[in-house]
Amino acid sequence: MKIANIIGARPQFVKYFPVAKAVELHNTSSGARRITDVLIHTGQHYDYEMSKVFFDELGIRTPNYHLEVGSGTHGEQTGEAMKRVEKVLLDEAPDLVVVYGDTNSTLAGALAAVKLHIPVAHIEAGLRSFNRKMPEEINRVLTDHVSSLLFCPNPRATENLRMEGICADLNNGILMNSETLQNLDFLPERSVLNVGDVMYDVLLLAAEVTEDKSAVANRLELSHKDYLLLTLHRAENTDDPTRFSEIVRFVNDISSGKTVVFPMHPRTRKVYAASSDKFHSAVQIISPVGYFDSLALMKHSGLVMTDSGGMQKEAFWLKVPCITLRNETEWVETVESGWNVLYSEYKGRHSPTDSINTVYGDGLAAQRIVGAIERYLWGKTS
Ligand code: UD1
Repeated sequence: MKIANIIGARPQFVKYFPVAKAVELHNTSSGARRITDVLIHTGQHYDYEMSKVFFDELGIRTPNYHLEVGSGTHGEQTGEAMKRVEKVLLDEAPDLVVVYGDTNSTLAGALAAVKLHIPVAHIEAGLRSFNRKMPEEINRVLTDHVSSLLFCPNPRATENLRMEGICADLNNGILMNSETLQNLDFLPERSVLNVGDVMYDVLLLAAEVTEDKSAVANRLELSHKDYLLLTLHRAENTDDPTRFSEIVRFVNDISSGKTVVFPMHPRTRKVYAASSDKFHSAVQIISPVGYFDSLALMKHSGLVMTDSGGMQKEAFWLKVPCITLRNETEWVETVESGWNVLYSEYKGRHSPTDSINTVYGDGLAAQRIVGAIERYLWGKTS
């Protein structure tokens, strides 16, 4: 069985890591039907700090194909990625294509595959912000609707898919277990499965080594819980000057007199350089950081302010209060738990619950995904 994994932007390198590990584990278990994994990097992110550092840190192997798509308008980036991915898929003829999350590379990979009649597995399926102005929302909805295997990170995502008429939820939103899998004769087309969140898998895998691998707090002379962490890169925030001003003002107000560390995304750097809106002098703007530094910076901060999807959950798992710099979030459970607040609703404090529940799984999402893929492909060939 041959699968092709398509990645291209920063969060996808992180999400691929546990899947690669689970494929390795699967292939070394006795009697397993071997899975060959072709890795395709579209090149949507290309700076060292946005791409290669993740491969180096996490020990992800060099991609079999690097398509060097780079930047451009949405049409250019998606179209270019689709053209180049299609060529690789024609050459490699995989049995299944795996795509991750909601970027232009996700949509390009899914469309290229499905038009060649190659089934698509979508990891992080069913997420919705219900804001169709976000490019990521369009990418998610379309990818879900052309996918055959829809791997959801939580029950809410399976419910979103049910509401859109993608109904083959095999376990009613309950976390899939090995028994569920064994009891299924074969996975039907358009299978929706709650497998848990692969980002939780990575966080658990990395938790033990983060402190050893990250020296960022010392380098920046930060004291434990004595600074705030900021990240900002979504087009909805950076590309609208009024909105950008509003966020700069909000951050300045919330953090006045406090140190703020801000690993700045390249998109934001361009906008900030051209803008007259400026942060106060205790905001330390640094280059984007790698995964271990990112976790360490989050863990030791007193508060995270972000428009990233992944960081809302990481803050939640690490028990750090978070303010989401958006009007809505796909990760509603983090808000319900009190650890996360939308900035428009922030009243000066958080009221977090003590316990962190397991709504995003148990750290075994990637193993479930690989188990289900194997089952699905075996069903198709036998
Ligand atoms: C993309 C994803 C978003 C994801 C984010 C993670 C889409 C529509 N959005 O947004 O879902 O959360 O990645 O970071 O796919 N740039 C560089 N160097 C790089 C990468 C980008 O300078 O290594 C510049 C580009 O030239 C462009 C800007 O940053 O001007 C935005 O890059 P783009 O690839 O469009 O996506 P992101 O904003 O990073």
